[in-house]
Parts: sequence; C-alpha cells; structure tokens
Amino acid sequence: MLGLGSWVRAQDDSSARSPLNIPAQDSGTFSAGASNFELNLQRGSHSFLPGLTTETFGINGNYLGPTLRFKRNERVAMQVSNRLGEPSTLHWHGFHLPPLADGGPHQEIAANQLWSPAFDVVQFAGTYWYHSHVMHGSGGQVYKGLAGMIIVDDDDQDVALPNSYGVDDISLIIQDRRFSDDGSMPYLTRYEDRVMGMMGDTILVNGTVNPVLSPRTRLLRLRVLNGSNARTYNLGFSDNRAFYQIGSDGGLLDAPVQLTQLQLAVAERAEILVEFDPGEEVTLVNVELPPSFPEFPGAMSEMMRSLNTQGFEILHFRAQAQLEDNRGLPSRLNDIYRLPEAAATNTRTFRLGMGAGMRSGEDAGPGRGSRNGRGGGFGGGQFSINGRLMAENYINERIDFNTTEIWELTNTSPMMHPFHVHNGQFQILDRNGSPPPDNEMGWKDTVKVGPSELVRIVMRFTDFRDEENPYMYHCHILEHEDRGMMGQFVIV
Ligand code: C2O
Ligand code: CU
Ligand code: CU
Repeated sequence: MLGLGSWVRAQDDSSARSPLNIPAQDSGTFSAGASNFELNLQRGSHSFLPGLTTETFGINGNYLGPTLRFKRNERVAMQVSNRLGEPSTLHWHGFHLPPLADGGPHQEIAANQLWSPAFDVVQFAGTYWYHSHVMHGSGGQVYKGLAGMIIVDDDDQDVALPNSYGVDDISLIIQDRRFSDDGSMPYLTRYEDRVMGMMGDTILVNGTVNPVLSPRTRLLRLRVLNGSNARTYNLGFSDNRAFYQIGSDGGLLDAPVQLTQLQLAVAERAEILVEFDPGEEVTLVNVELPPSFPEFPGAMSEMMRSLNTQGFEILHFRAQAQLEDNRGLPSRLNDIYRLPEAAATNTRTFRLGMGAGMRSGEDAGPGRGSRNGRGGGFGGGQFSINGRLMAENYINERIDFNTTEIWELTNTSPMMHPFHVHNGQFQILDRNGSPPPDNEMGWKDTVKVGPSELVRIVMRFTDFRDEENPYMYHCHILEHEDRGMMGQFVIV
C-alpha cells in the first residue's frame, strides 16, 4: 500500500495531504546550574495512514521525540527513563562529551531504569539529533520511533538567519517506512532489508505521510535530518529551483552553497535556505538518479538502484498568498578553522568491506562471526570494518589524548556506507585525492564513503581522556551497525 507509485500519483490529489507535523520544542527547566530535560522512552500508537493504527515507540509521545533546544556553553542534565519494557539507550549524535554520557551501546538503560547523564554543550550552533543506540537493536528501535532532533543555539552568533521555530525555521526528519495492510510496520521481512538496510516505500516527514506546509515568509530555513535506517536521499525541488545549503552536521558553512540537488545519507544533516513567491506550489522531492550513477556499480547494482535512486515526493509547499519579507540571504556565515593536515601525528586506515576475518592480511580477532551467521559477499550480507565485527569487549583503537589524526576510509564493498564517528566533529580532507565539494568543507560527523572511494578525514581528540570507556565509530546504516559494522576507540 502507498507504494512509491501511488506516492507520485498523490501529487494531484491535494485532499490526501496532511499538514506537516512540527515536533514540540523542549528547552528544559533550569535548576542547579543546568538545563534539565526529562525524557521518557515509551510505547505508543499512531495513525500514519487513514483508518489504521500503528504500534510505535516515542520519547515523551507516541512517535519520535521533542526537538531539544540546547544553548552553546550551557550544561544540560538529562533524565532518561526507560518505560519500553526492553533495554534501550539514548545517544546524543554529533556531541563532544565524556564517553559515559554518550549514550552508546555501553550506556544501556535496562527496562524501568533511569539514566541521568549531564554534559556541557560545547558544540557550535547547529542541527544534531538523538536516537537509540542499543547493542544489536538500534535499527528496530529507531524504526519504531526512538529518535528526535536537537538544535544548538548560540546567542553570540551574529549572522541573521530565519530562526522562528515552526514558522520560518522548520525541522524536517525524513524517514521511509513500510506498512502492512493492518497498519503495522514490520521490521526486517526481506532478505535485502538486512543487506542494503531497511528501506520503506512510504515517506514520513516528522511522522507525517504526504505532508504539506504553507510558508508565510519568503525565505524558509529547513533543518533536514536524514533519520532513515538506510536510505540515501537525493533532495531537490520539483521545479529544479536553486536552494542554498548553509549548514552541515556540526554548524554553519563559511558561506551559502548554491545547489539544485543535495545527497543526504543516513544521519547527515543539512540546513538549507529556500525562497518562495506568494501563492506558489512546489514540492521537495527525491530526484531520480540516472542509471549510470556510479554509486552502485557491480553485480548487485540493479537491486540497489531500484531501492535507492527512484524519484518521489517528500514534502509539498503551498506558499500563502501574502508572504512576509523575513530575511535576505547572507553572503557570509562563518569562519571555519581548517584543521591543518600537517598537525596530524598519526594516520589510521578503516576499510569498509564485506564479510569478516579469515582473509589474508586481516586480523581474525574476537570480532569474528556473529549471531546472524556469516558468509561471503552479499550471500552472507555481512559488512565489517577492517575485516572485523564489533565485539563488546574489544577496543579496536587506542588514541593518544590531545592529538590530531587522519583517518583514511576505504570501501571495498559494492555499496556506499555513511561512516560516523562519536565524540564530535571532523573535517573532510579529500575524496580520492580531490578536495571535497564546498558543502562538505564544514564540520561533519558522518561522511559518505562510496565504493572504491578513499575519503580522508582529520579529527582532534581533546578533553575526555578515559582508558576504560570507549566511543564508537560505525556505518550509520542501522542494519549494518547492528550486525557488527562498528568499532570502538578509547582516548588514552
Ligand atoms: Cu547516530 Cu553511533 O550514532
Ligand atoms: Cu553518534
Ligand atoms: Cu554500511
């Protein structure tokens, strides 16, 4: 039901559209020197499709969670209580914080338990998110709804951008889901769900199917989060209009980057500015990629292409007849300090590949094998990093405190993997030896690594020295992460 075919057909049927849900904001309550947030992980149900009810997970609600507003340099104290009846975690994606506050797989919150981490917000202003990171189970929990957005504000930032939440500053959590005829969202029902990751045929934006938004200002700021489990979006507008990317994962870019298409992999964020004329209608779409698109070469290309490169609608805009002139487009946004390559004292290599262990030149350590079985190529559907699978008690990398490192990311598999590193933001040095495009010159915590690509990133490891408690790095296709495409590092 509601396959992508009918999605496209719905274009002319405006009665089928629903107003875009805008997640509630939560700025916490100030006491004892910190902003305090109470987050309840809970079960719920929601009607995504007319007449049908879907069992869901949510945070302080039925599906997804509130948009948390943090201020740069404030302290935040979280009270996360797990009412799901199963173990969970909550991870603050993109944040530079002590490992015990990170909310990764080691900070498991048992059923009916409370987890109370606190940390200083040292991030730049920008768009981040939070989600379940429970060992082997993040995919299923995020799919049901355990995720939300975080906006970091900075009163000292003096660039004039639309900032009226829900009016000209709109958060968009884009996800794809697959519904059964009874309205349920079964997880992992097909072979390819485990290999390519879980992809659906129905798009949700902030939980709304077939959404419409009616801007009342000329300029809109869209904070786009790819909150899907596996799907990469190739965003654009139905009339191919230009828009401007102003922010990446970890804050504002130096200057707006004009684009007509923007590829956003799982967990990546982009802030964009787009202009409207009074009364006009236009749709944010997934722009179909040409069959020659080089992302998926090789034998499995047809299967992946059909899943990941087709065109469909995401969010319809119907501008109001009168539009307020809210802001102009700034020419300058930020002055990003480029981490010098020469400052790096160590280089590590991370090979994103298929299968695990046992091949010559690979270390066959405690990460080998998995509860999900193994095997070669797509036959086993197993992805690994440096030939290993995540093992809870094995630290893959020990990094010297207060150093800068270059990480070389390679990909020997036939599909793109979005590589994510915990504990902060890095910069991309180059892709196959060439500087990244302008919209990848800002702070990043997740980077696409295509087949046969060599992506070099540079990162600083400051603060939070802790020999015992690791941070994660992993592919952010959640089914890959859950099946072992993850490793651990400590800062010593
Ligand atoms: Cu979005 Cu390891 O996290
Ligand atoms: Cu993360
Ligand atoms: Cu992957």
